[in-house]
Amino acid sequence: MRRTIKDLVNLKGKVVLVRVDFNVPIDKSGRVLDATRIMGALPTIQYLVEKEAKVVVMSHLGRPNGYEINKSLWQVYLFLMSKLKCKTYFVNDCIGKEVKDRISTMENGTVLLLENLRFHEGETKCDMDFAKKLASLGDIFVMDAFGVAHRKHASSYGVARILPNAMGFLVEKESQVLDQVLTEPKRPFVAVLGGAKVEGKIKVLETLLEKCDTLLIGGAMAYTFLVAKGIAVGHSMLENESVIVAKRILKDAEEKGKKIYLPVDHIAYRDGDKKQKSFTTDKLVEDMVGCDIGPKTISLFTKLINGAGEILWNGPLGMYEDPRFQKGTAKMAKAIAQSPAYTVVAGGDSVSAVKKSGFGDRINYFSTGGGATLKYIESGSLPCLDVIQERLI
Ligand code: 3PG
Repeated sequence: MRRTIKDLVNLKGKVVLVRVDFNVPIDKSGRVLDATRIMGALPTIQYLVEKEAKVVVMSHLGRPNGYEINKSLWQVYLFLMSKLKCKTYFVNDCIGKEVKDRISTMENGTVLLLENLRFHEGETKCDMDFAKKLASLGDIFVMDAFGVAHRKHASSYGVARILPNAMGFLVEKESQVLDQVLTEPKRPFVAVLGGAKVEGKIKVLETLLEKCDTLLIGGAMAYTFLVAKGIAVGHSMLENESVIVAKRILKDAEEKGKKIYLPVDHIAYRDGDKKQKSFTTDKLVEDMVGCDIGPKTISLFTKLINGAGEILWNGPLGMYEDPRFQKGTAKMAKAIAQSPAYTVVAGGDSVSAVKKSGFGDRINYFSTGGGATLKYIESGSLPCLDVIQERLI
């Protein structure tokens, strides 16, 4: 059992460095478009405030190349400030004198948000000199950034190797939910997987096949599976190099008596059509480009979802970034939210589709991880969780 925040004692006056994942979508006017991750980390921050620690919060935002003003965490700070009742501070860097001075003068039970960690290249390189500079700011490290726990970065993996540490409430909850879903699923367990690429999801597909009863595949990766079954996909996005893998996965499923369902119709347009006029088709022939699941697939998938005991969903079923091809994902979001099954939704687009459906409150658990959730499914743990100390019994 790993140490959790509840195992930490005598926190009054201690500087607790909390790594969170505040990598949230922000529009041009600076509005936070989806606060799931910020709200997810609040219980940990609030708990430490109640214990009268000095809470120093660290996060990345986006993938900046050096300092980029639109990747500043200032807008996130304004949102965070509006959610906390205690005194809050922000500093324009995450290491250095200004940061140290602010920490030394901040009162117990207050919160300081540091500027974007990725403005320093040492963060993603897991440079241990940078990790040491971060660690020198605090007494204790709390890991509550589930969304980035699959990456060995300086502020997470590096700092955890230097300071006494524990998991925050969010990371603890995420791993508990996923462990339960994967080890004691309510049957039938239906996994819904979308998104663009088969490559990178091979191990996830293999693991899910072991655990689930039925696998529904949509998104661009479905075309690679259709080709593996000898079905034409026209000019749709295809990963030729993954067709062999898709064939193997389909064969494995058959041998294991597991069902993989693929789209039976599509929303498509013709390659070369400047207006990209969309239409519904059962067959993707000639120059057709499939971009979303069609109505027959929506009803087939909905029927399977309605009969599920448990549902795990990751990844959009069509080209969700284009409003013309959002319908399949939106319909699945509604079906999953309305199903009586135990439901877990992971990944930015899937979470946003469910929230837009207006039935978000019917989902049992929204995971704050995208890639991290998939990695957790693959291996049952993550590098940044593995470096958290064991609980002393
Ligand atoms: C995410 O959004 O999945 C996490 O914040 C990790 O971000 P990254 O893929 O840029 O490392």
